[in-house]
Amino acid sequence: MASPVDSRPLSKEAIQALLQTNTFGRTLHVLQETASTNGDAMALAQQGAEDGTVVVAERQTAGKGRLGRRWYSPPGDNLYCSVILRRMPTPAELPRWLSVVPLMAAVAVARAVQAVTGLRPSLKWPNDILIGDRKLGGLLCESSVAGPARTFVVVGIGLNVNTGRESFPEEIREIATSLAAEAGRPFDRAPLLAALLSELEAHADALLTRPPETFLSGYARLCSTLGRRVRVRLADGETIEGQADSLAPDGSLRIIRDQAQGGGLLEVRVGDIIHLR
Ligand code: BTN
Repeated sequence: MASPVDSRPLSKEAIQALLQTNTFGRTLHVLQETASTNGDAMALAQQGAEDGTVVVAERQTAGKGRLGRRWYSPPGDNLYCSVILRRMPTPAELPRWLSVVPLMAAVAVARAVQAVTGLRPSLKWPNDILIGDRKLGGLLCESSVAGPARTFVVVGIGLNVNTGRESFPEEIREIATSLAAEAGRPFDRAPLLAALLSELEAHADALLTRPPETFLSGYARLCSTLGRRVRVRLADGETIEGQADSLAPDGSLRIIRDQAQGGGLLEVRVGDIIHLR
């Protein structure tokens, strides 16, 4: 799937010329290659980088996924970016805010994708971006909580833009997709990134002024996990099956466990979900 537009390199000038944000992306690091943009953003944030600082790379050599996985990050095709959030709610609101940020960011990414491409992604809890049953992108949020001035969150976003289906490594070929594979045409990444940063900034601003419930209902509307039968691998390695029922106030997933496994309602904060049937 090679064409002039899908290989157009990311440049700071092209991205910033398209930005409609107040702060997100105004400080922007565009790298040809890095281990992980999340790693870079964490290091920048530790050194005091401001709210809305963005790191984007053409290629990652050790892109990080959730639960210790690797994120497939070949050169030139896709978006790998990390955004530093320094704006913070009150200390009392911080724990809930931290748990809702990944869900808020997933909604922002889905909205940006829809606005730019017309495709309608759904969200697999907690923050996989799906088209149908295939994974289009994912988010990895990392935080450091160390007193008001030194607390920050890095929102890492990986979005498969122009990788052809056949180019994904064999182990994810049947479960991954890209915008180009879905739409049958390539996409220029700079406008996509600019739209993504606009949505993320608007949602992050709103998360400071509106109750988190607002975001959970917006998230629930996009979430294809709710109402499904699921298999969940919990953080301790245990696997359970049941029906994904609803979201708890902190964004945890409530599962009605199968009777065969003893039944009951379980709140999952961290886990790996498989949609069944
Ligand atoms: C997932 O497992 O679904 C989360 C994937 C997150 C990947 C992105 S790519 C940009 C940023 N830098 C990383 O190392 N990871 C995130």
